[in-house]
Amino acid sequence: QIVLRGSLHRSDTELSVPERRCDHKQAADLLVQLSSCLSIKPDVAEFGTVFTDHMLVIEWSLNEGWKAPLIKPFGDLSLHPACSSLHYDIVFFVFNKIIKSSSFMLFCLSAKRACLPAFDKSELLECIRRLIELDQDWVPHSDSASLYVRPTFISTEPSLGVKKPSQALLYVLLCQAGSYFNTNTETLSLWADPKNIRAWRGGTGDCKIGGNYGCSLFALYEAMNYGCQQVLWLYGDDNQITEGGTMNIFLHWINEDGDEELATPPLDGLILPGVTRQSILELTTGWGEFKVTERYLTMSQLCSALEQQRVKEMFGSGTAVTVCPIGRIVYMGEYIFNESIQTDHSFTNSQPFHSSWASNFPS
Ligand SMILES: Cc1ncc(COP(=O)(O)O)c(C=O)c1O
Repeated sequence: QIVLRGSLHRSDTELSVPERRCDHKQAADLLVQLSSCLSIKPDVAEFGTVFTDHMLVIEWSLNEGWKAPLIKPFGDLSLHPACSSLHYDIVFFVFNKIIKSSSFMLFCLSAKRACLPAFDKSELLECIRRLIELDQDWVPHSDSASLYVRPTFISTEPSLGVKKPSQALLYVLLCQAGSYFNTNTETLSLWADPKNIRAWRGGTGDCKIGGNYGCSLFALYEAMNYGCQQVLWLYGDDNQITEGGTMNIFLHWINEDGDEELATPPLDGLILPGVTRQSILELTTGWGEFKVTERYLTMSQLCSALEQQRVKEMFGSGTAVTVCPIGRIVYMGEYIFNESIQTDHSFTNSQPFHSSWASNFPS
């Protein structure tokens, strides 16, 4: 392995190892250890299974602050067995594709909620930019695939007490992302049962805390037993629609007042403030073609709208899927929505959507 300072050029011959001063926060202090063994790049690998040759790691401790960021060959982490991220789930992540957008607001929000230290946004962005620059050959040559960026922040506190971490590790992985859902169908099926709750008021539903996802697995496999691909998460006595799997949910419909509306649940602490959700809201508001609303939607409103054929389309949104039309919903064991109910997919198939998305992705 070769160690370079502040440079990503493999041809660099200056191989000094700088002394490891503490409390570095600057991308200018970035150290680079190049991998001596580059992997063979697959065409497009299954989502999240094959990682690029390098990763970014930045260590923090209460006593010493942030150490210099380090890009190093991709490899395992070594963690103390008492590490509090393993025991108490003090871990969160965000993810972005390399398109023009990234969300650091969510990163900061999640760090605060997990009692992990703050990291300077622009310095981190610059370190990530340089990681991507180094592994740029991994960016898929395909319109339907992308390079996925996974910043992850964990407590490395090596003791069993439930307390604010005194040590932490911020690291960033890159992997190729093709189709997120392993499905041959063009639409997604969702299983809705109010007995499973993804998030609640005062909880961490609006952060990317690891536990939100681990806890959702049981319901996901229940959904699969019912022949569905994902869970439609409901909340409250009136069965409000909140999210679908790991996607924000949109309903394009003729609402109760007869208006054409694109609606999605409001950010009230239950909902993950998705970048794609925000982008769709901004784009469609700009079109001015229909009402765009952040509002509560309940299952009974959806059922009535389906009966009265007022649903134009329902879809999920997320970085991984972009937008994914929903084709089937099983609610309390019954299909309320299936291919026999005509929805026009007018949103996800619309030309304005596709061209705006490509050229206008808001930052
Ligand atoms: C629970 C949840 N909702 C929605 C989203 C979509 O967010 P984004 O558009 O930022 O990818 C995600 C993405 O991870 C998620 O985990």
